[in-house]
Amino acid sequence: MINLKNKKAIITGGGRGLGKATAIAFAKEGIDVAITGRNEAVLKETVSELEAFGIKAVYSVFDIGNYEDVKIGIDRILKSLGTVDILVNNAGIAAFGTLNDMEVSQWSQIIQTNLMGMYYVTKEVLPYLISNNEGDIINVSSTAGLNGNANTSAYSASKFAVIGMSQSLMKEVRKHNIRVCTLTPSTIASDMSIDLGIAKRDSEDSVLQPEDFAELIVAGLKLSRRAMLTSASLWSTNP
Ligand SMILES: NC(=O)c1ccc[n+]([C@@H]2O[C@H](COP(=O)([O-])OP(=O)(O)OC[C@H]3O[C@@H](n4cnc5c(N)ncnc54)[C@H](OP(=O)(O)O)[C@@H]3O)[C@@H](O)[C@H]2O)c1
Repeated sequence: MINLKNKKAIITGGGRGLGKATAIAFAKEGIDVAITGRNEAVLKETVSELEAFGIKAVYSVFDIGNYEDVKIGIDRILKSLGTVDILVNNAGIAAFGTLNDMEVSQWSQIIQTNLMGMYYVTKEVLPYLISNNEGDIINVSSTAGLNGNANTSAYSASKFAVIGMSQSLMKEVRKHNIRVCTLTPSTIASDMSIDLGIAKRDSEDSVLQPEDFAELIVAGLKLSRRAMLTSASLWSTNP
């Protein structure tokens, strides 16, 4: 098993939810972490929590859907961390509604954030991983990226696209010793799932928790470098 101590990671959407749980799990492993998001107050508070584990933690505020802002934000992180070993493309948004009822602007924003945002961040981080000839990228899709359902057209389209992009990237960068993993989790208790009405707070026993998702990522990263977890679905045992 690989020791992850002193590795350096970027986690988009690391201030709360699944990204924050991943940041804490990384900090426990001794990984230095940069978290990103749009809400500076939330990011600042999470950075303080991460620093309590004795690691270096930094944040950068930018909208992943804006390529110019992504370039500046990633550059700032790289200047601060020095290098990067792990990228977790976690930031995302969701909204449900029929294809006809949803506003064009809302539908496009979901694609812009979940697909274009992931592409922009990856494009800026990848050259560093290639020049290190080593790295890990974890791309967060969803079970909604495997099956379309009524009222999920925008979210499903974005998450299907993430799987396609992620699989292609995996085949492109294997030769650079870069492992790309596509995750398709089911419902996990977070602001997103609670706001959508598909999970409740205080549902620890019946619904997946952000910590379960974080444990899966850490387990994948600890695999010997000769092995690569290319995809994983995480389901609750409670049907
Ligand atoms: N929870 C689930 O049931 C579930 C299941 C499958 C997949 N997922 C996926 O898992 C990922 C994390 O979800 P979550 O449940 O943790 O959601 P969440 O609690 O709503 O958190 C979303 C995160 O993404 C960031 N974010 C959103 N839009 C952004 C933008 N334009 N620019 C920068 N950051 C942005 C948010 O930060 P700011 O608010 O600071 O911008 C926040 O940190 C998402 O990709 C989601 O689609 C979730």
